[in-house]
Amino acid sequence: MGADAKGSELAGAYQPDDWRGAAPAVVSRPTKRLRRPAVVQEQFHLRSRPASLLKERERALQVVDAARQAVTTAFEDIRLGRRMNLEALEPVVAGIAASVARNPVALPSITRLKEAHEYTYLHSVAVCGLMVALARELGLPAEQTLDVGLAGLLHDVGKARVPVELLDKPGPLDLNEYALVQQHTVRGRELLEDAGVTSEIALDVCLHHHERMDGKGYPSRLARPDIGVHARMAAVCDVYDAVTSARVYKPSWSPGQALEWMMGSIGHFDPHVLSAFRRTMSAFPIGTLVRLESQRLAIVVTEEVSNGSPPDVCVFLCAQSSRALAPRRISTARDAILGIEAPDRWHLEDWNARRDAMLATCAV
Ligand SMILES: [Fe+2]
Repeated sequence: MGADAKGSELAGAYQPDDWRGAAPAVVSRPTKRLRRPAVVQEQFHLRSRPASLLKERERALQVVDAARQAVTTAFEDIRLGRRMNLEALEPVVAGIAASVARNPVALPSITRLKEAHEYTYLHSVAVCGLMVALARELGLPAEQTLDVGLAGLLHDVGKARVPVELLDKPGPLDLNEYALVQQHTVRGRELLEDAGVTSEIALDVCLHHHERMDGKGYPSRLARPDIGVHARMAAVCDVYDAVTSARVYKPSWSPGQALEWMMGSIGHFDPHVLSAFRRTMSAFPIGTLVRLESQRLAIVVTEEVSNGSPPDVCVFLCAQSSRALAPRRISTARDAILGIEAPDRWHLEDWNARRDAMLATCAV
C-alpha cells in the first residue's frame, strides 16, 4: 500500500470540515488584535496590496529580517532570565500572515534558503509562515490565523533553555542529552505561560509539536485522536523546515525528497494534514537549482502551485561544458526540468549571492 492510500485510510476518522472534533481543547478566544502605529504597519507591510512576486519578495525580505531580529531578541531575553516581550512579536506574526495572504510562496521562498548558522531563529519564522499557509489550505477559521502564526513562531521557544552546544552538536546525542533536548517542549510551554500567552493554540503547539500519531512522540506520548489539529500542523511544518534546511551537521534535503520521506513515514504525521501541506508546496520551489532537458543548469524563478503551469527558470550554466551562460529567463514548458541538482556538486562559488542576484534579475 502506498503512502497516499494508507494515508486516506488513517484520515478516515474525521473530515476536513470537522477540525474541532479532532482538536481537543485547542480552540480558544482569538488573541486580541492590537492597534498598530502607522510606522509598524508600514514596516511590516500590513496594508499593502497584492503585487508581483518580485515586489512581494522584496516586502517579505523586510518582514523576515524584522522577524529574525524580534525572535532573536525573544530568545536572548529568555536566556538572560528576562520576560519575553509578547507585544513586539504581534506585528511580526501579522506581517508574516499578511505576506502569505498576498502571495503564499514569496515568504517561504526566502526562509527556506537560510544558512546553517541562521537556523535557530529563521526556523521559527519559517514555521510561522508555513503554519499560516497550511491553515488557509485547511480552511481553518480566519480568526485563528494570528494564533496559528504565533504558535509557529514560538513553538521552539523552550530551546532558549537548552545549551546551544547541544542544539548544534555535530554528532548524535546520547540518551541524557536527548532527554534534555526533549525538555524544550515542557520548558517552552512554561515560558509562554510566564510571558502571559493565553492562546490555547500557541500553548498546545509548544507542548505537543513533537507528538506522533502512533504515540511514539514526546513529551506525553499522545496518540491520535488526542493530538490537537494545530499540534499536528506544527509537526508537519516543523519537520519539513528542519529537513529542508542545512544544519552544521547535515546538508539540506530538496522539498521533493522531504515530502516523499514524510509521506512514507507512516504513523508519524496526520495524513490529511500532510496532504494539505503538500498541496501548498511546489515540487520546484523558487530558488531551486535544476537541470533542464537541454542540459543547462537553471534556478527556478516562479512556482506553479496556484495555476498548475510549469515554472519559469533562469538558465546560467551549460552542464556539459561547465561554460557560463548569460542569465536568461525561459519557460520549462519548452525545456522541461529533468531534476533537482545540489549546488555543492557544481562547486558554484558564492552560490547564495549568485542565486539572489539571478532571482532579482530574472523574476521580473
Ligand atoms: Fe521542537
